[in-house]
Amino acid sequence: MQTSNVRPESMERITTKALAEAFIEEQIKAVREQVGDKKVLLALSGGVDSSVVAALLIKAIGKQLVCVHVNHGLMRKGESENVIEVFGKTLDANLIYVDATDRFLYLLGGVSDPEQKRKIIGAEFINVFADEARKLEGVEFLAQGTIYPDILESVKQAEGKKAVKSHHNVGGLPQDLKFQLVEPVKLLFKDEVRVVGEALGLPHAMVYRQPFPGPGLGVRCLGAITRNRLDALREADAILREEFEKNGLSEKVWQYFIAVPDMKSVGVKDESRYEGWPAIIRAVNTTDAMTATIEEIPYTLLHHITDRITHEVNGINRVLLDLTPKPIGTIEWE
Ligand code: XMP
Repeated sequence: MQTSNVRPESMERITTKALAEAFIEEQIKAVREQVGDKKVLLALSGGVDSSVVAALLIKAIGKQLVCVHVNHGLMRKGESENVIEVFGKTLDANLIYVDATDRFLYLLGGVSDPEQKRKIIGAEFINVFADEARKLEGVEFLAQGTIYPDILESVKQAEGKKAVKSHHNVGGLPQDLKFQLVEPVKLLFKDEVRVVGEALGLPHAMVYRQPFPGPGLGVRCLGAITRNRLDALREADAILREEFEKNGLSEKVWQYFIAVPDMKSVGVKDESRYEGWPAIIRAVNTTDAMTATIEEIPYTLLHHITDRITHEVNGINRVLLDLTPKPIGTIEWE
């Protein structure tokens, strides 16, 4: 097991399938040695890192791994279903699916401050996960999709550098839940995690999935979240993703999504007044998410997306394009 949190200078960058396979073999041995016949728990969001860790551990210890997928109701369209399909069905994982939508939306009701929303989502995520963990017996280990940039970031924060936003993961479980950590990809960079994911046979779309924040659509449904506006956002976002994929932009643009503010404008539909929310398109390129530039999207495609969203999504009557680089705008609106 990698015990040190420092990547040795001699460690070769994993760029090929052969190197990934060697890494996988090495980690399978190390994980088996570390956990023996005990159970390992993993919060499986469906993001690249937790998915790769899940696939690796399924290979190493099979049903000793218990994956918990918490659907906080802020997932993108089809995302939870995809986790169930890939891990529950194809990989036959020991998967617990928790639909906690009502719990999250209840707590978020009327809360408009972005940091408070993040804190509620982060804390409730831990509550739901801890509830599931307490129901299980014989779990001594917690697997995490920590990667090397996470370690470098926490070193920076320990040195007193302030974060712009409070990101969340499954850190800070309650006192009664004491697990030893299993972090098989903690010394890898993102591109290496993806190579390992492909070598493990995970679907390409999952391994090359664009980054998605822990608080999910919660920080894109701006201001106080309501179910109607959240549903409209999810549908508009699905159209944007579908069109980017169809038009070859999904591999060119680092991150693209829709944000829907809590404001309405006047429109007209079927010769009647039609008040609706605007859908804001954000499509950025970056290498490290610290700065970002705006990707140019062909106007014909923008017209087509606008047409689809305004016709197919209930409650949206305008589409806007965000041209703001980071800095000054952060990538997410909240
Ligand atoms: P910002 O908005 O700070 O985002 O420019 C930089 C990158 O981080 C993602 N992001 C998050 N990721 N939890 C996460 O795991 C979060 O709370 C969170 N907030 C932002 C964002 O999507 C972008 O890729």
